[in-house]
Amino acid sequence: MHIHPDALAVVRASAPDQPAILNRPHAAARAARFFVEKFPGKSLYAVKANPSADLLRVLWDSGVTHYDVASIAEVRLVRATLPEATLCFMHPVKAPAAIREAYEQHGVRVFSLDSFEELEKIKEACGFAEDLTLCVRLRVSSDYSELSLASKFGCDLTNAAELLQATRQAADSLGVCFHVGSQSMSPHAYVQALERVRAAIVDASVTVDIIDVGGGFPSIYPGMEPPPLEDYFGVIDRTYESLPISYSAELWCEPGRALCAEYNSMIVRVERRRGAELYINDGAYGALFDAAHVGWRFPVRVLREEVANDGVEIEMEPFSFYGPTCDDMDHMEGPFELPADMKVGDYIEIGMLGAYGAAMKTAFNGFGATEVFEVSDEPMASQYRGDRRDPRVSDNVVSLR
Ligand SMILES: Cc1ncc(COP(=O)(O)O)c(C=O)c1O
Repeated sequence: MHIHPDALAVVRASAPDQPAILNRPHAAARAARFFVEKFPGKSLYAVKANPSADLLRVLWDSGVTHYDVASIAEVRLVRATLPEATLCFMHPVKAPAAIREAYEQHGVRVFSLDSFEELEKIKEACGFAEDLTLCVRLRVSSDYSELSLASKFGCDLTNAAELLQATRQAADSLGVCFHVGSQSMSPHAYVQALERVRAAIVDASVTVDIIDVGGGFPSIYPGMEPPPLEDYFGVIDRTYESLPISYSAELWCEPGRALCAEYNSMIVRVERRRGAELYINDGAYGALFDAAHVGWRFPVRVLREEVANDGVEIEMEPFSFYGPTCDDMDHMEGPFELPADMKVGDYIEIGMLGAYGAAMKTAFNGFGATEVFEVSDEPMASQYRGDRRDPRVSDNVVSLR
């Protein structure tokens, strides 16, 4: 594939009529290497965040060997793309046929569960196999996260001991897992969750072989500047080391967003302007699902020749977006800061869409076609370049000597 230097070069070369997804493999590779080298355990990529086969190959080439899959389609996809990968089926509610196919045809040995029903299902579908790694998912709070995952899954502490004991009987290897919610803005989220894990293990008096701290590692978006990832890894490591687990236990994590947010941005075109509202050609049913449904703000920039030239003073204004479908709900509140003179025909680059963005596109109302280009410039924000200042350190902090 021809590699363009940046989004403006794509517009110059193609003036795309459809939304265009831009891939930045170098950014995903850098994120993967960061986790592989710095997380004090094993990193499983959560495929749901972005199931692009190209991305899976980039992550594999950068050292990610384990993949968190949540559906039989994801199992098949990763197995076909990366025949050597270790697959972990971490959805706590699965169809028996999906479990059976994963076990018998795709070599999956790791499964998660949060109920006795699911435990029975897994035992039966795998023919009462003796080589299973079973991870019990605990319910933990999502208090520190932008997107909650506290309601749907997870066994409460009151039932955890019994479920851990029963799972221990069926498992060759026993794990405890949880998810603190996506885009967790404080490392403390993991400390709190690991304290629940401690209580559950003590209560159950079982030997635990794996602690899986799940996903939730943040990326950078407007208004969301998390602390450095090293801080998360540091507190996880210290708390994990103090747990009552076997000396040979393993620490796992399942990052989705943090590994792929920087991988994609998107070029859209303004088809109409109505005051401070821009009608663009992608939206709530496309890659902007989170912008529409949870008011997520993504970074934006206009792609114009004069903007590329330094020294031009531009007056900015807050805009909201309408997507291309006929639905009123196809609306992204923003605000998105763009030049006050935005007009029909302008192209906009929307950044940080690699996680739960590109993956969310549908063909609803006939809008879904997308072109894909590769670019070599930097994503609009990065956790991994080593040049970010810690947002908690303010300029007017008085240090006591
Ligand atoms: C079980 C599981 N693991 C990992 C992830 C990835 O989470 P994140 O993208 O917040 O890192 C998710 C997301 O929903 C999940 O459900």
